Amino acid sequence: MRPQLSILLSGFALVHPTLSSLSTFLPNTSGKDYGVALSHHTLHSSIPDPYAPDPTLGRYIQISIFYPVQNALCSLPGCVVPYMPHATAKLSDAQFFGGSSGGTTGVLESLELEVCCNVKADSTFDVSQFPVVFIEGNVGTSRHLYTCLAREIASHEYVVITIDHAYDSSIIDLNLTSTLNTGQTSTTIHQSISLSPFTKITTWNSTISTALRTRLSDLEFLASTLSSPSLVAALFTNSSTSPNNTISPIFPAPGSAFNTSRLNILGHGLGGTVATTLALLPTANLHPAVAINMAGTTPGAEEDIVNTAPILFFGFRPGGTRYNDTRWNTSFPHFENQATEWDLRNGDIFSYSDLPLLADLKGLEQGGVKGTGRVGKRAWDVMTSWCTAYLDLVWRWKSSETDRAEVERRLNLLMNAYPEMEIFPGEGDGKGVWVWEGEVLGV
Ligand SMILES: *[C@@H]1O[C@H](CO)[C@@H](O)[C@H](O)[C@H]1NC(C)=O
Ligand SMILES: *[C@@H]1O[C@H](CO)[C@@H](O)[C@H](O)[C@H]1NC(C)=O
Ligand SMILES: *[C@@H]1O[C@H](CO)[C@@H](O)[C@H](O)[C@H]1NC(C)=O
Ligand SMILES: *[C@@H]1O[C@H](CO)[C@@H](O)[C@H](O)[C@H]1NC(C)=O
Ligand SMILES: *[C@@H]1O[C@H](CO)[C@@H](O)[C@H](O)[C@H]1NC(C)=O
Ligand SMILES: *[C@@H]1O[C@H](CO)[C@@H](O)[C@H](O)[C@H]1NC(C)=O
Ligand SMILES: *[C@@H]1O[C@H](CO)[C@@H](O)[C@H](O)[C@H]1NC(C)=O
Ligand SMILES: *[C@@H]1O[C@H](CO)[C@@H](O)[C@H](O)[C@H]1NC(C)=O
Repeated sequence: MRPQLSILLSGFALVHPTLSSLSTFLPNTSGKDYGVALSHHTLHSSIPDPYAPDPTLGRYIQISIFYPVQNALCSLPGCVVPYMPHATAKLSDAQFFGGSSGGTTGVLESLELEVCCNVKADSTFDVSQFPVVFIEGNVGTSRHLYTCLAREIASHEYVVITIDHAYDSSIIDLNLTSTLNTGQTSTTIHQSISLSPFTKITTWNSTISTALRTRLSDLEFLASTLSSPSLVAALFTNSSTSPNNTISPIFPAPGSAFNTSRLNILGHGLGGTVATTLALLPTANLHPAVAINMAGTTPGAEEDIVNTAPILFFGFRPGGTRYNDTRWNTSFPHFENQATEWDLRNGDIFSYSDLPLLADLKGLEQGGVKGTGRVGKRAWDVMTSWCTAYLDLVWRWKSSETDRAEVERRLNLLMNAYPEMEIFPGEGDGKGVWVWEGEVLGV
């Protein structure tokens, strides 16, 4: 039975009330022709919530939509928005930058970014025109920790959606919906799942399988919402509960909905496990074309299995390769279609997040940010360019000879520019060049 869907709020990013002199701007995106519009939304489904005190009240998820808008349609200058909402920034600051004392440093609260806004009101958007990319973050983190990754990929003509899952993400802030009768006694929902974002999951138990199942059900709900024209229209309509829609969102053309028939999932940690799960066993509404697992484990294969999407695992050295995770090690020989592992030298779990970029901007020593390893900002460059490369291989490479040559040229540039991203020994063509659909590229 199709769950009853209701969208509580379409709340668009709030403009920062004061531009503090201490604020730091995040760098602009590299996509030349597109700016990125940003909106935040809270969604509620009637699916029972296994974690809530009263499961019958349903599930909450929050999403941010990063939508590519042609430069000519964005008014200049763009709008300046905070990197994270206040409560999320405080909590994440203590989590990653607070040091042993757990104190907060204000790093995340001082970050701002520019987004495309005041989109010309007479422009409507056929939102089905761009491929959709879901970013599934690690357990115990906020979706906002992947904002720069999302905005960067969106500037290359993908609609990118970051997602928070109630009781799994570090914090869900329902404050803006508090005037609605949601039955929630508290306006914030904190992580209650007993999994640490800093510890690599290598064994399996019921905590993990419940978390995985719950996320997959949230994503089913999200994909069906995004593919419904009426629900998309509701998502982008101002509501009386979100008076501060000072950033114009995009205006979906009447009847237009996102095309989620072939999705792309970039997952980190537990989110990576979600991506690999779907590459192995796609569901009715979740059929990934690209499924990248960054530093997460695999549900595992004990017998040969035909993976419907390529298995793409981005690990790290030392300690984060398939050899350090029996589930990966025993599964790899069973994947019958393409399965590729890349490992980042001197990396760690949170090398795959915005953190290396943020630390660099703030002039912080990389080792001083929890979970990021010693690669520095190059970790962020590797993550964004490798994710974009795989997306382009699926969505651009075959579209024309020119696109093909351009995609291959960029792949070769990456290989030369970032030797710290190493293909697992013996994979690729044995020399570390890209292989896709059985073809060796651009040599
Ligand atoms: C981003 O680009 C805008 C122009 O579109 C420019 O005004 C701004 O200074 C740039 N910001 C950064 C951090 O480079
Ligand atoms: C809810 O939002 C209001 C302003 O919009 C703020 O004053 C209040 O502190 C917030 N409450 C919580 C619990 O975050
Ligand atoms: C499952 O394992 C995680 C550590 O990976 C642990 O935190 C959690 O408590 C375990 N759950 C159960 C039910 O044992
Ligand atoms: C909306 O913005 C105004 C002025 O910036 C502020 O006073 C008010 O608290 C905001 N409301 C919400 C719900 O955030
Ligand atoms: C939402 O409200 C803001 C401010 O009132 C306005 O600028 C914006 O165009 C509205 N968006 C839509 C989709 O109506
Ligand atoms: C959605 O995208 C797929 C390719 O990913 C395409 O085959 C299909 O025609 C698209 N559907 C619509 C309604 O545009
Ligand atoms: C990871 O695996 C490698 C290769 O088997 C091994 O040398 C290394 O000690 C392992 N590291 C950890 C942290 O388990
Ligand atoms: C992983 O598998 C390889 C062979 O496929 C084997 O040589 C290695 O010892 C295994 N490592 C672990 C930790 O299971």
